[in-house]
Amino acid sequence: MRGSDTVSPGSDPVLRSARPEDLPRLWTLDRLCFEPGIAYSRREIRRFLDLPGAEGVLAETGGELAGFSLGHPDAPDVARVVTLDVHPAFRRQRLGRRLLSELLTRLAAAGATRALLEVDVRNSGAIEFYRREGFQETGRLPSYYGRGLDAFEMTKNLSLGGAGDRKVPR
Ligand SMILES: CC(C)(COP(=O)(O)OP(=O)(O)OC[C@H]1O[C@@H](n2cnc3c(N)ncnc32)[C@H](O)[C@@H]1OP(=O)(O)O)[C@@H](O)C(=O)NCCC(=O)NCCS
Repeated sequence: MRGSDTVSPGSDPVLRSARPEDLPRLWTLDRLCFEPGIAYSRREIRRFLDLPGAEGVLAETGGELAGFSLGHPDAPDVARVVTLDVHPAFRRQRLGRRLLSELLTRLAAAGATRALLEVDVRNSGAIEFYRREGFQETGRLPSYYGRGLDAFEMTKNLSLGGAGDRKVPR
């Protein structure tokens, strides 16, 4: 298998549900997207995928991983976004938006009315992206990623609509 750092933009990536065998590629891409200490371990990604009601949405083109989103129901009405990873070669092409939209559509269909996530306060690109997607900062979590590395909690009301455009094959 080629590593996900070898991909190059081509045709529009296709979305599908993540499968257990995708785990190594998800882990590789997560380490490309996040610095050590913030990137998830393989075991953590597997644990998230195994949570009840968890949804993993993957985007690929020509068999190569372009990005993925991962989330799960948390409390009766909350959709927790665990991560959203777009390969650098595919950024600013609306793929993050598609992956987030599909994830939130699925979790809203399962009963979530509110989406919640944490993002590194230094990650200004992602914060701007999430604001554009209708999230607002609702708190600051001191040392969330380790000593002195704070996170913003960001929230979006899903009952206002706009969670997603269309369903994709599971
Ligand atoms: C954040 C991330 C998911 C965005 O994915 P993307 O596919 O590039 O985003 P999109 O193309 O869907 O962006 C939609 C809009 O969000 C905003 N946006 C996206 N990335 C941005 C950035 N780096 N800086 C400022 N605004 C940004 C823009 O308004 C953009 O529209 P435009 O390109 O027409 O200006 C991607 O940069 C990424 O994977 N980063 C590393 C991992 C990460 O930080 N994940 C999020 C935290 S969990």
